[in-house]
Amino acid sequence: MKNTKAKKILFTSGKGGVGKSTLSTTFAKLLCEQDKKVLMIDFDASLRTLDIMLSVSNVVLYDWGDVLNANCDSLDALITTSGPKLLAAPLEKVELTKERIRRLISYYEDRFDYIILDCPAGVGEIFDLTLHIADIAIIISTPDLVCVRSAAVAGRKAKDAGVEARLLINRFKKIIMANGKALNIDEVIDATGIQLIGVIPEDLQLSLSILNGELLDPSTRGVRAMTRVVRRLNGEQVPLKI
Ligand SMILES: Nc1ncnc2c1ncn2[C@@H]1O[C@H](COP(=O)(O)OP(=O)(O)OP(=O)(O)O)[C@@H](O)[C@H]1O
Ligand SMILES: [Mg+2]
Repeated sequence: MKNTKAKKILFTSGKGGVGKSTLSTTFAKLLCEQDKKVLMIDFDASLRTLDIMLSVSNVVLYDWGDVLNANCDSLDALITTSGPKLLAAPLEKVELTKERIRRLISYYEDRFDYIILDCPAGVGEIFDLTLHIADIAIIISTPDLVCVRSAAVAGRKAKDAGVEARLLINRFKKIIMANGKALNIDEVIDATGIQLIGVIPEDLQLSLSILNGELLDPSTRGVRAMTRVVRRLNGEQVPLKI
């Protein structure tokens, strides 16, 4: 068992469908390739996603609802995948409180280097509850006004809670930005007021490989961009490539 506690990284957004689960799964897999011990927790209760993205949907026996309700041992609920361990989301609503989330995390934080929390969309209850145990919140936004506005709200909430926040711009398409049909990177940063951690291009290969639970292809642009995000979060100075 290790001595240090896991770093808790929250993947969140204001708006839904912007790539939280895709990018958090990519991020977790990249950390595993560096021999880190990684746990992913799917907080999208009732819309369970990560078991599919990690190709283990047919072996889910328990979820974090079972752990909290003492239906199983906390370690028996962990699902082994080819990458991170997974704690699946319950398929029905389970009561969550700050105390319950803190207790859930306490079962695992001594055993892992990283705990990746994949949030549902929105800045509601789950966001508030998971935020208070996060070391850092990665706020994902696509470069459009609707998404940016809700990312700004998430960023303000993180700031109010005293949690470090970083902006991850997803589905960036250079040509659309050049045509003035999408915001440019500076405009997204200015409108959200959040420090940038990376820009992930539109990448169908990355999207399909995660949706199908396949291994990451390190040659794809999206995976290379996420690799740079991992390095930046480790404190390296890595230039932005677009
Ligand atoms: N960089 C990308 N390039 C192309 N497609 C992407 C990219 N990122 C995500 N997608 C696609 O966008 C869709 C939504 O992604 P995902 O499910 O990860 O979003 P989410 O924010 O987790 O959604 P929800 O709010 O419902 O939890 C998926 O079809 C995914 O494959
Ligand atoms: Mg999701």
